[in-house]
Amino acid sequence: MEALKHLFGIADLSKEQIEHLVNLGDSFIDINRRPIKKAPTLRGKTIINLFFENSTRTRTSFELAGKRLSADVINISASTSATSKGESLLDTGQTLAAMQPHVLVIRHSLAGTCEFLAEHLEHTAIVNAGDGAHEHPTQILTDLLTLKQAWGSPEGKTMTIVGDISHSRVARSHLLAAKKLGYHMRVVAPKTLLPSEVERYGCEVYHNFDEALPGSDVVYMLRIQTERLTDACAFPSIREYHEAYGLNAKRLKAAGEDCIVMHPGPMNRGVEISSDVADSLKSHILNQVEHGVAVRMAVLATLCGGHPEEKPVSKKKSSDEVKQAQGSLL
Ligand code: CP
Repeated sequence: MEALKHLFGIADLSKEQIEHLVNLGDSFIDINRRPIKKAPTLRGKTIINLFFENSTRTRTSFELAGKRLSADVINISASTSATSKGESLLDTGQTLAAMQPHVLVIRHSLAGTCEFLAEHLEHTAIVNAGDGAHEHPTQILTDLLTLKQAWGSPEGKTMTIVGDISHSRVARSHLLAAKKLGYHMRVVAPKTLLPSEVERYGCEVYHNFDEALPGSDVVYMLRIQTERLTDACAFPSIREYHEAYGLNAKRLKAAGEDCIVMHPGPMNRGVEISSDVADSLKSHILNQVEHGVAVRMAVLATLCGGHPEEKPVSKKKSSDEVKQAQGSLL
């Protein structure tokens, strides 16, 4: 398997690399549940989280992931960085890289920010924590770990993703992952929130939510990305949007008994999802949050080349899975 130098997007990962990161993340779940949540894997490594957009889940889980593996972790947000004094993105990146971090985790509103910086910062691994409407690879790895825990494998399953597909980096990354891992995607949105070329990803397109639900194994709800909406008339009103595209317990019945519900967060209750679903046993939303820490531990350990003998191994793993995880750290 090709060694990972950066993590820009699902588009750049092979099926083998995706499965490696998910399996390694699985092996890190236990450490997050222990009373003492610490392993020495990344001792002496430095990670900088550089966030130009708001975040709760991604930023916190990268920070926890690094700290629980004993790395030094620094957090910088746009409002407290020198970009607010007019410094360019490149100058900020080069300044931070001069401090010799091993990994720079970046969230930015512009697609391609990570690739751009990687061209100029030779010795720093770069992780995309969400770039505009382009990709959010660690969210998809998080979701895949959640699906692994629920079903073993997503292969052959049907994910119905609903909402603001046009502006969703999560939707785009899932469409790319589905092709590589063999799960089916249905996208559901009003025409105004759907990219015109979406069929080229090999997904089924629906404008009627109720028609898409039968046969769905997971219903994946998205929030409307108001910060990226340029068209004020994308839908008539929040009430009408909720009527047509909001998920509630009554509507979910059409999907069948075993269907689960996911959402990358943040949720807007009463808009795309109702509390009777979000807080129900069908909801795996908080599992996604928990798995986000484990998956980001896997990403950081892989990029930093953590020492295999120091890597915590879950007692649950088979010897083959352990060998696979260890091999990737060499
Ligand atoms: N899912 C996600 O990226 O959430 P945050 O914006 O809180 O990081």
